[in-house]
Amino acid sequence: MMKGPDLCAPLAGPVAAEAESLLRQLAAEGHLAVEAVERRIRDVADRLAATGTYRQSAEELLLGARIAWRNNPQCIGKFYWKGLEVRDCRDAGGAGGEEGELFEALVEHLRSAWNGGRIRMLLSAFPPSEPGRPGPRVWNGQLIRYAGYRQHDGSVLGDPETVRFTEAVLRLGWRGRGTEYDVLPVVLQWPGREPRWFDLPADAVPEVRISHPDYPWFEGLGLRWHAFPTISDQVLELGGLRYPLAPFSAWYTCAEIGARNLSDANRYDKLPAVARGMGLDTSRDRSLWRDRAVLELTAAVLHSYDQAGVSIIDHHFATKQFVRHEEREQRSGRGCPADWSAIAPAISGSTTPVWQRRYEPTRVLPNFAPQTDSWPFGEAA
Ligand code: ARG
Repeated sequence: MMKGPDLCAPLAGPVAAEAESLLRQLAAEGHLAVEAVERRIRDVADRLAATGTYRQSAEELLLGARIAWRNNPQCIGKFYWKGLEVRDCRDAGGAGGEEGELFEALVEHLRSAWNGGRIRMLLSAFPPSEPGRPGPRVWNGQLIRYAGYRQHDGSVLGDPETVRFTEAVLRLGWRGRGTEYDVLPVVLQWPGREPRWFDLPADAVPEVRISHPDYPWFEGLGLRWHAFPTISDQVLELGGLRYPLAPFSAWYTCAEIGARNLSDANRYDKLPAVARGMGLDTSRDRSLWRDRAVLELTAAVLHSYDQAGVSIIDHHFATKQFVRHEEREQRSGRGCPADWSAIAPAISGSTTPVWQRRYEPTRVLPNFAPQTDSWPFGEAA
C-alpha cells in the first residue's frame, strides 16, 4: 500500500540526511566514487520525495551493515567487521509478506551461519520498515534459545531468562517437551497481523554437550548449549532506513556460556553442581568454590566446542583482537565506540589487555539498537 508523497513529506528530511551521510561515508572510506555518490544522493532524494522511502543497493546494504557492526559499542568481536556476510532477504515472503516464507529464510540463515561448525558471521536483512508499513519482527531475543518454565514452587525449569517469552508462546498454543533445554519456537509478526510461531527443524539447531577434559563425571551433569548465538531483536538503522528483522550470527566466546549462561545465579545456576562434583566446600564463600567452579565450567565449554569442531574463541584471544582492532581504527582516523562493561570478559577480566583501558560508548550511525516497544506480551494477561 503506497502513500501519497505529501503524506510522507515530513519523513523525507531526516531520512534523506541519514542516507546522504551513509553514502558520503562509503565514499570517504573508498567504496564509492565521488561522482557516483553525488548522483546516488540525488537519486535517493527523488525516491524519497516520490515514495517516502528508497531501496538500498546490495552494496550499500553490505557495506553499511559492516559499518553498523563496527559502530556497535557492545561487541568484542569487531576485529572481524570486514568479514561480515549479508544475505539479502528484503523480498522474502513475496508481496504478501507470507510468514511461512519468512520463517524458511530464517532457517536458511541458521543453516548457513552453522556452516558445518565453521561458524560464519552472518546477517540477514529482511524487509525494512516503510512509511505506513513497519517491517516484520520476531519476538525472540535470539533465534535459538531454551524455554524457561516457572514451576509451582517458584523455581524455573530451563532458562529463567525466557520465562515471560515461554509463557507468551504457551498462550499462543505452543507446547514444549518440558525438559531443561527445550528449543523455543520462532514467533514472527508483521505489525497489525496475528503472530505466528514455528518450531525450528533439528538440523538448524546444532548443540554441543559439555564435557570436561579431566573430570569424567562432568558429562553426567547433562549440560549443553546451542552452537552459536543469533541476535534477532535489534533493529539495523542504516542510511535512514530501519530493518527491524536483521538477525546476526557469530561464534561464541567461551566465557559467555561458561561464565554467564550456565553459571549466573539467575540463569542456569550450575556452579553449585559443578563445585559438588569437584568436592569443594560450598558452605563458605572463602573456599572460593564459585571461582574454581566457574573456571572449570568455562574450560569444559571451550574443550567441548573444540572437540565437536565448532568455532569458539577464548577471552584472551578475543580481547587481544579487540585491542588490535582499536589500534587499527585509530590508524584509520576513527574512534572505537565501546562499552567497557560489555567488553571486559566475565572471568579473569584483569588478566586481559582491555582491563586497564577506557572506552566511550559513543553512539554513531549506522548502528544496531534494541527495540523493546512491540513486545505484545509484556503486559498481556
Ligand atoms: N551473550 C549472548 C549469549 O550468550 C550472545 C551475545 C553475542 N555474542 C557473540 N559471541 N556474538 O547467548
